[in-house]
Amino acid sequence: MQEQLDALRAVFQEKLATCADSAALESLRVEFLGKKGHVAGLMQNLRTLSGNEKKDTGQLINIFKQEAANGIGEKAETLQSEALDRLVQSAKQYDTSLPSSKSLGSYHPITLVQRELEQIFITMGFAVEDYNEVVDDYQCFESLNIPEHHPARDMQDTYYLDNGQVLKTHTSAAQNAIMRKYGAPLRAIFPGRCFRNEAVDASHDNTFFQMEGIMIDRDISISNLIYFMKTMLSEVFQKDIKVRLRPGFFPFVEPGFELDINCLICGGEGCSTCKQSGWLELCPCGMIHPRVLGMGGVDTEEYTGFAFGLGLTRLAMMRYGIRDIRDLNAGNLKVLSQFVSA
Ligand code: PHE
Repeated sequence: MQEQLDALRAVFQEKLATCADSAALESLRVEFLGKKGHVAGLMQNLRTLSGNEKKDTGQLINIFKQEAANGIGEKAETLQSEALDRLVQSAKQYDTSLPSSKSLGSYHPITLVQRELEQIFITMGFAVEDYNEVVDDYQCFESLNIPEHHPARDMQDTYYLDNGQVLKTHTSAAQNAIMRKYGAPLRAIFPGRCFRNEAVDASHDNTFFQMEGIMIDRDISISNLIYFMKTMLSEVFQKDIKVRLRPGFFPFVEPGFELDINCLICGGEGCSTCKQSGWLELCPCGMIHPRVLGMGGVDTEEYTGFAFGLGLTRLAMMRYGIRDIRDLNAGNLKVLSQFVSA
């Protein structure tokens, strides 16, 4: 029996050494340790033996069985770590500096226009500020000289939250906080997403972007305001843009204006984007009301300032010839991936 076991052990060791993968190892295990394997066969034969011989042989078989099981276990570990090594080796063949073959994505047209404007204003000495989308009544209205029950609140169909806060209806909601943060003199722009319960059509959506700007200093007048607006627009469109100023009413500016630009979609002839008028309302603006400056902690004896609320969404539509505002929020990649910065 001892000889038979030694022979079997030699065969096992040889086969174990040549096992190249886990499938081969598994069939070796079945061959030796499976229900119908060599070890089970030897155990069967034990029945023909008797007494001490049976016991001794049984022990020898069990020793071999244990050896075989250990051998298989160790080999499995070796094979596993070799497989891992191969994986690591093959990973090294990737060049991590190569661009992906998949689409790289693109910037949203509003992001592109926003960044372009930020650059223009930065060169004119303005700071760029970010501000909350959820604000309180004081920030959105009270601090802008729009008390509760003032009819001016009707101009902005507001989303009120259960806790009394509002989704900001205009970027002007940040004016007070930014005046308080920096004090005067001050030049800042603050782009942001705004929300109003609008009836949706080609030029209105319930979610849109504005870019607010304020400049506060000694001797600031309407001519400064017009200069900055014209400079900014001719930079964005790379040509002289026709504008017109109309009186406009906003409780936080006095005097207040609507700055319109000639519709660049139809060239002024009239289309659905400009409601057939040839003009697009782009930038309400005006001289900041002294009461608003005061609430912002600015000394009104010494300082004056202007504010504007540029329609960023509308500007992006003009800049890229987008006829329908709904394309901007629809998340349709076929549309959105067509825009690249100039
Ligand atoms: N916040 C105003 C609006 O959205 C626009 C505005 C901003 C008007 C700054 C004047 C000055 O309607």
